[in-house]
Amino acid sequence: MTSVISPKREDGEEREEATLRPQTLEEFIGQRRLIDNLRVYIEAARRRDDALDHCLLFGPPGLGKTTLAHIIAQEMGTDIKATSGPVIERKDDLAAILTDLKKGDVLFIDEIHRLNRLVEECLYPALEDFKIDILIGEGPHAKSIKLHLPKFTLVGATTRAGMISSPLRSRFGITERLDFYTVDDMKTIVRRSARILGVTMDETGCEEIARRARGTPRIANRILRRVRDFAQVQGDGTITGAMAAHALNLLEIDPLGLDNLDRAYLRTIMEKFGGGPVGLNNVAVAIGEDEDTIEDMIEPFLIQIGFVQRTPRGRMATPAAYRHLGLPEPKIQTELF
Ligand SMILES: Nc1ncnc2c1ncn2[C@@H]1O[C@H](COP(=O)(O)OP(=O)(O)O)[C@@H](O)[C@H]1O
Ligand SMILES: [Mg+2]
Repeated sequence: MTSVISPKREDGEEREEATLRPQTLEEFIGQRRLIDNLRVYIEAARRRDDALDHCLLFGPPGLGKTTLAHIIAQEMGTDIKATSGPVIERKDDLAAILTDLKKGDVLFIDEIHRLNRLVEECLYPALEDFKIDILIGEGPHAKSIKLHLPKFTLVGATTRAGMISSPLRSRFGITERLDFYTVDDMKTIVRRSARILGVTMDETGCEEIARRARGTPRIANRILRRVRDFAQVQGDGTITGAMAAHALNLLEIDPLGLDNLDRAYLRTIMEKFGGGPVGLNNVAVAIGEDEDTIEDMIEPFLIQIGFVQRTPRGRMATPAAYRHLGLPEPKIQTELF
């Protein structure tokens, strides 16, 4: 999907993200409760000269999970090794990663809900007792030996807390959730990114971008870069409120930050399924997106702003969503709210 508001990382965006990424807890904007907790846990672990407990970070894409994993290693003064669930295909792959860790290192596993079962089971003793069983040799002469690992910290990230098995979840001492950012925090983030990128921007320009970035720093940074392009080519280089609004309109991002895909999703529920309740699979087929994309990237924000409800019988569009799109609400549906 090529969409400005897609919170997933686009190809080639990695390097620019790295330059905009906060390096320390101090630099990390927002998520106050989580940051305050982490500061205590990190400080305590450092005083004990111990590794930090395993941490599970969950929340929608683009809110700072990967950033935090790096910050944790930075603040602990240790190294980080980053991988992701689907990349670790076999037990051997996991063993190779684990045996390479040093005391206190951070192992970051992104999309940890996508680890396969065999690898996951192999991870349990590593997390709990810092031991793994590895197989030496082949066939009838193969021998299983126990290897001791240095005490390390697993940081797992997931967009789907519900998809983590309970045995895995119970092995994390720290579980923290990232929420969408407030407009104030978004403004601070946009200002910081503009400063790093050397872009001039006035207060209304900043506000316009902050308001239309779905509470998601990755989206704000992407919009900022696109708006900068318009400001350079069609203006004098400064991002003003009018310039930001002009660019965002051309990008078809509406005042709430919704784009074409969000509107297609809402319209489908409203026009094809009478406002719902409708099963996710039916909506997915109707708009030609896969269910994961919808659950990860479209729904969390629409649920957060109260445009969609997840009910046991399926998704429902709310009266607020009808008003936003300027469509008449069906009578029966209104009575359900
Ligand atoms: N709290 C924050 N303050 C400033 N920038 C942030 C913050 N959180 C995320 N970002 C920016 O957003 C981008 C995406 O963050 P990332 O950690 O990759 O998200 P996730 O791993 O949750 O998808 C990063 O490059 C970073 O520049
Ligand atoms: Mg990430």
